[in-house]
Formats: sequence, structure tokens, C-alpha cells
Amino acid sequence: MRTAVTVAELRSIRERLPEPVALVPTMGALHAGHASLVRRARAECRSVIVSSFVNPLQFAAGEDLGRYPRSPQDDARLLEGEAVDVLFAPSETEMYPRPQEIFVQPLTLGEFCEGPRRPDHFRGVATVVLKLLNVCRPQQAYFGEKDAQQLAVVQRLVADLHLEVDIVSCPIVREADGLALSSRNRYLSGDERSAAPNLYRALEAIASALRSGQRDVNRLFAEARTAMKPLRCDYVAVVRPDEFRPLDDVPPDSDVLAVGAAFAGVTRLIDAVKARTPKRPTDERIG
Ligand code: PAF
Repeated sequence: MRTAVTVAELRSIRERLPEPVALVPTMGALHAGHASLVRRARAECRSVIVSSFVNPLQFAAGEDLGRYPRSPQDDARLLEGEAVDVLFAPSETEMYPRPQEIFVQPLTLGEFCEGPRRPDHFRGVATVVLKLLNVCRPQQAYFGEKDAQQLAVVQRLVADLHLEVDIVSCPIVREADGLALSSRNRYLSGDERSAAPNLYRALEAIASALRSGQRDVNRLFAEARTAMKPLRCDYVAVVRPDEFRPLDDVPPDSDVLAVGAAFAGVTRLIDAVKARTPKRPTDERIG
């Protein structure tokens, strides 16, 4: 595996990579969820670039930028083991040699759920993802479905700006008890770790009720908030995966997501569970 720390180095390596080229963008602190993205990229493309950059633009004031977990040696070992071709690990000054003047700003996609709770987060994500795509010029870029709203933003970024790349979305990898893998799980104390899967269980209960035709989301949300305890619920919502506007009335025959965030102590966990709602009983043809 070659490592590039400057844009110029990465570009000169990229010129000679056999295509199609895959990009797996990460913020380091890699875990089995990242490994699953890399494996998929390895299986589908001739060359794999993994970027590792803790992007300050996507952290709001008071978030965990300063203490975000970093494990460069373990990351390099994991990527070598997955036969990655290139690790792109730029410094902050390499990615932002001057204060950023031009940003990519999602509008309605960032209005709900994570958006208002993490000011400028999606602007930071969209801006850095566009920069990484421009530097690495992949044919395919791989993103996890845990950050479901981020995935929606990246898909719109590519569609709205006519970028020539396929976005490949990859299923959430979970611990045996259901907790979605996340670099931030390293922050959890023993008790917090035991409670953490309650977020998944609560969202799965909403998704399962929707699959069986229930539509009174407010009752489902009240039950979910109780089921999450001792986690402190930040929000729960049911959204269309490409819109992220909370639905009061969940439409029949649709793909939706039960999404939510909850605090385990000071650590904020997010998760998303898919559901396909049934056709209305009146739509069914009998006999
Ligand atoms: O999901 C992440 O790790 C980050 O948000 C990303 C996509 C690498 C952009 O910094």
C-alpha cells in the first residue's frame, strides 16, 4: 500500500492506477464497518483508495473534534490486510491551505434530523466529499448506510452537480447485540455500552410496526423513547431515504427509514433502520 499525504502525490499515483478506481472516504479510527466498505470496493474495482481525514469543517463548536479517536497504526494494518492500493492521509493545511471561501450547502436535506442539531455539519461533509472526489477522481465511491442523511446529501451532491461517479451504499455492520459499529463507540463506558443497543432496538420496533401496517407514528415514537432508556433520546423520525423530512403520515407501499439519535452519557449515537410499508388493505385485490 502506498501512502500519499499531499494532493500532488495522490494525483501522481492516481494517474497510473488501473481503472475502475474506488474511493472509500473515512475519518480514520477504522473498524469492521469500514472494512466491509473496503472489501466491497476491492471486489468491484481494480484499484482502491482509502482517504483518512478528520474534517474540521463538519464538526460544530463544542463537538468532539479535539478528542475524535485516532489510530493511524491500527488503520494502516487493517488497510494493508484488505489489500488497499493507496491511503490518502492529508493534513488539515493540505486540504484547507486557506480558509475555505466556497462551500457546498445542502438546503432542505439538512433542515431536519441531524441538520439543526449539528450546525454546518452537512455543509462540511458535502464540501470535503466534493474535494476528495475531485482529488481522487474515482469511478465509484463507497458510503455506509448508518449515516443515512449523509448518504442522501452525497447522492444529491453527485446528482445536482453532475459529478461523474457512482455512489455505492453499503449496509450497516452491527455488533451481535445490534449496536451499529461506529468510531465513537470507543468512548462508551461499560454501562453505556450495555445500554447502547437500545437505540437500535427502539428503531427496529418502529420499523417492524410500520412493516405490519401501523401508521400512528406519534404513538410509536412515545414507545421508542421509553424503550431507549437509560439512553437519552435526542430525536426519532420516520423519513423517506432521499428527503429526510419527518413524516407524520407514513405512506403505504413505500421505502422509509426509522432514524434517531440518543445520548449514552455524553456520547451521541445515531442509527437507521429500513422498512417497506405494506399496500393499503383497500388496494388489495381479493378473489
Ligand atoms: O462518514 C465519514 O466518515 C465522514 O463524514 C466523511 C464521509 C469521510 C467525510 O468527512
